[in-house]
This record gives sequence, C-alpha cells and structure tokens, in this order.
Amino acid sequence: MDYQTYEHDVVVIGAGGAGLRAAIELSASGVSVGVVCKSLLGKAHTVMAEGGVAASLGNVDNRDAWGVHFADTMRGGQYMNNARMAELHAKEAPERVRELEAWGALFDRTADGRILQRNFGGHKYPRLAHVGDRTGLEMIRTLQDHGIHQGIDVHMECTVLALLKDGDRVVGAVAYDRERGRFRVFHARAVVLATGGIGKAYRITSNSWEYTGDGHALAYNAGADLIDMEFVQFHPTGMVWPPSVSGILVTEGVRGEGGVLKNKDGHRFMFDEIPDLYKNQTADNEEEGWRYTQGDKDARRPPELLTRDHVARCIVREIREGRGSKHGGVYLDIAWIKERLSNGTEHIKKKLPSMYHQFKQLASIDITQQPMEVGPTTHYVMGGVRVDADTQMSNVPGLFAAGECAGGLHGANRLGGNSLSDLLVFGKRAGEYAAKFAKEHKPGAVNADQVEEAARRALEPFSREGESPYKIQQDLQQTMQELVGISRQDVEMRRALDELANLRVRAGSVGVIGNREYNAGWHTALDLPHLLTVAEAITRAAVERRESRGAHFREDYLAKDEGLGQVSLLVRKLGDGSMQVVREPISELTPELAKIVDDNK
Ligand code: FUM
Repeated sequence: MDYQTYEHDVVVIGAGGAGLRAAIELSASGVSVGVVCKSLLGKAHTVMAEGGVAASLGNVDNRDAWGVHFADTMRGGQYMNNARMAELHAKEAPERVRELEAWGALFDRTADGRILQRNFGGHKYPRLAHVGDRTGLEMIRTLQDHGIHQGIDVHMECTVLALLKDGDRVVGAVAYDRERGRFRVFHARAVVLATGGIGKAYRITSNSWEYTGDGHALAYNAGADLIDMEFVQFHPTGMVWPPSVSGILVTEGVRGEGGVLKNKDGHRFMFDEIPDLYKNQTADNEEEGWRYTQGDKDARRPPELLTRDHVARCIVREIREGRGSKHGGVYLDIAWIKERLSNGTEHIKKKLPSMYHQFKQLASIDITQQPMEVGPTTHYVMGGVRVDADTQMSNVPGLFAAGECAGGLHGANRLGGNSLSDLLVFGKRAGEYAAKFAKEHKPGAVNADQVEEAARRALEPFSREGESPYKIQQDLQQTMQELVGISRQDVEMRRALDELANLRVRAGSVGVIGNREYNAGWHTALDLPHLLTVAEAITRAAVERRESRGAHFREDYLAKDEGLGQVSLLVRKLGDGSMQVVREPISELTPELAKIVDDNK
C-alpha cells in the first residue's frame, strides 16, 4: 500500500478551539506539532458556542469568583462532574480568557472598558465574556492566527481512520486526504484528540458534517475508556423552520438578552415548573426576570435561563401537549424588549447580529419585529474519553484528549459557555502534558501491518456493489433521534440496539462508486463505523442508567436513583470486540470543595 509518512513530536487531531489551544501550547513547549483536521482550518463547531465564554472575571458583578463558577458547574452537572476538572476549569478560565485577549481577541466592553459579561442559563452571575453572538468565531480566529504565527504544521482535509499502537502505547495515526484519497501516516510520540462531538449521530443537530464522533471512536478502538456517554445535550433552541435549516443553533444569548419563550397561546410556560434546585435563584414574575437581564443585582434570573436540560424538556412538553408553534416548535420572542427599551431594535441588532441575519436570510423573519420558532437540537455530548483531570491523558499511554471529545468536566449537563472555557483550559493542559510526555519518551515504532489493515478496510467499499452509505447514515440518525433522543425508555432503546446491530451489518457491505478523489460517498462510508460506535455507546450507557438526571431523561424512571448518582458509567471495548458498560464510583469532594458547594447552594 502506498502512503506518505509525516513525523511530528505530537500530532493533534482536530482544529477547533481545543486542538488549536493544545497546538499552541505544544509549540510553545518546544516540540514539533502537526494538526490534522477533517475540514478547512477555521471551520469548527467552536463557532457554534456563540453567546460567550464562561469565566468568573467579575467585571459586571464583582461577587463572582472561581468558587461560585465551580459550584454552578457542579449543580448544573447534577454533581456527576469530575470535581477536580471542575475546580481547575473554574480557577483557570479567567486567565485563559485574558490571555486570549492579549493575543488579539476582541470582546464587547463595559462602560469603563473592561470585558463585558452576559447572563446565561445556570450561571449565578453575568459570566459570559462575549463579542455579540460571534464569540466562538472570534476565538477560533484568534487561536488560528496565533498558532500559525507560532509555526504549527496543519494537514487540512485529512480524516483519521485509526490510531497506531506500539504495544500499549499510541504512536501515531493513519489517515486519508479527502482531496486525492491518498493514505497518510502520522508518526508521533504522543497524540492529542480534539475532534469535537457526535452530533451527526442524530437527525436534528446544530453540528455540521464533520461531527461523527471520530475522536471518541478512535480512542475506544485503541483501548481507552469512554465516560458519561448517556449524557447528550439537546440545546433548547435550534431553528425549526424552514425544514432545510432545522437544527441550526439559536444562541442562548437571545434569552440572556431578555428573550422569552411562549407557546401558541402566548403563555410564558417556563414559569410553570421551576425545579426545587433552582427555586431560590429563579424569578417568579416577569418584572423581576427582566430586571435581572438588565443587571439588577437583587433580582433573580428569568426561568428561560434555567439549565438547558430543563428548558429543552419544557419545550418538548408544550409541543407534545399540542401547544406548540405553527411548525412544531415554540416561540422565542426578543422583539418584545422594545416595550422596555426605546432603542430596542438597534439594541437587538447590536447584541445579536448573527441571529438577526440568520433569521432574515434563512426564514424571512425580522427578529426585531417577530418571534422566532425554535425547538431542541442535538448540540453537545458531555461524555467522552476518560482522562486524568490534571494531564488530560487517557488510560492509553501517549493518548490525550481535550474539549468536547474528552469527558468528565460537565457531568450530566453542561452549562452554556462552559464549552469555550473548557477547551481553553484543557486544550492548554493537554498540550502542556503531551509535550512533557513527548520529551520523556523515545518514538515508538509504526507497525506497517496496522497501516495496511486500516487502508485495506477503507478501500473495501470500492470493491462492492453494496448499499448507499447515505441511506445507512440517514437511518442511523433517524433511529437515534426517535429512540434515544431527549426522552428515553427501555423498550425503545433496546429496539435502537437491535437496529444499530442491523445497521452495522449493512455498513459492513456498503458500496461506493467512482474513484478516490473527493468522493463524498466514500467519505460517508468511512464515517459510518465511528458513528455506529458512538451511537451504540450512548445507547448502552443510557439503557444502564435507570433514572432521570440532567440531560438523560427516562420516561420509565422519572426519579433520580441514589445509587446511580454515585457512579459514572464507563464504556469499554472487550477483546472480542464487544462493548461493555461498567460502573465507576464518583470520587468524593474534598472538604474544601464540599464547603464551596454548600456555601453556594
Ligand atoms: O447558545 C449558545 O450560544 C451556545 C453556547 C454553548 O454551547 O456553550
């Protein structure tokens, strides 16, 4: 088999925020780094975290501090979080944001010139540093510029098929370039996975075509444990109309700026059910909620800013009970703030420029005048590669993970804006410790048989007249959407497992036509094994968690289970290739962290 080999000290797979931040740290540590990305540099799901990056800078409310951020993150995650990760995240996020600013990132400003922060669901104080509703985009722009000037090598439009191992240790990856279909080997002393999420396992998603769970599946196949895979975040507000754009994100920033959710009867349904957990933090009248969004320190937050898991379920309830909007969602209204602000129209356009254009261009809706129609969309997976909190290394030596493809920080539900701070904090840490690992270890050997095997399998679809990969992908997405979606039950998930097994057989005999140059059908065929792996991992873990907690809602087990609240679920590959779910006790909070949680209840 013909292939070219590239040598780097460390290879980073993925060029979103986590991958770029890791690469910057690696380069700064004096090791050579190659970034391998499936798409073009600059195109990453990071840009879909629009409303801001969470960090307790305390610029808008000086009561904010890392401990409050830590406690909010733990409460939002229903205490399933890896507490050490949540601690590091809350402590280090402010420094990472300031560093980004020093590298040239632009942020909106307070009247006295500091970084402006806005409200977001589950955050006690205005905490999201932002630039309008384009924060993720600005972050990617800054990281990309900074990284390129530091001399990182980038291998664009290159998809990784498998990780290469020398004994227990990871020593590189085998990939193909999408343009010409040629195989490439990346030989390295350490590998950082930063491939993002799994959104394309579902029909309705804010994720674009790249998010097929590659990092999760690569790590799993290489022997790494996955953790918390049952926890998939359905962002409450995606577009629902027109059908061609359904799932596209409508930022939580709309609600952070005062947007309210209403059903078809004009009723603000989020007031109907406020969980005990949030009763002392959530407004019980419209006036107070509005005052909160305007920065009144004595007011409590509006119920639209409850955590995403809760808001998404309330929206689903309205739709299911026949109170949904014309096209099967609910209404999100920001235009109403013109009643309160004389410059309302300009204010909306300034704060939410992308939303204004998105709705104008895609749905012919002027959000300064009319409500939007929105509904839940698969946005994020809390689960990922199980890593050491400090170093981000998995249980496979030399294999690191950061950002969405790593698990642990967010527990059962992620707070909005914590994804961007996650990728900065843990991208940096992964880079730092992967560099250390690379310096301390000699290069391992690449086993040509492993490369040949990956390449041989990749070419198989050309030798068959099999089924179209698109149809299999579509059926997989439909299965997950219908049977392992926002509301789950045992009987449906077991049907999903049968269906996934069936899809695996079909994927094994998929056929493609044409040649290897830019062959989208072939690329889709090669994504299928990864998608099937993450879909099965989500489903098996979700079957096992017989309770409702955070983003995981079981119609057949509505309550929380005390025992299950003490354990995380790990997904692991057995020697015979089958998938096993095992329980791992969640470590206890240190007395210092327990006190912080208590003080901030
Ligand atoms: O709604 C949003 O802007 C998304 C943010 C996030 O996922 O962190």
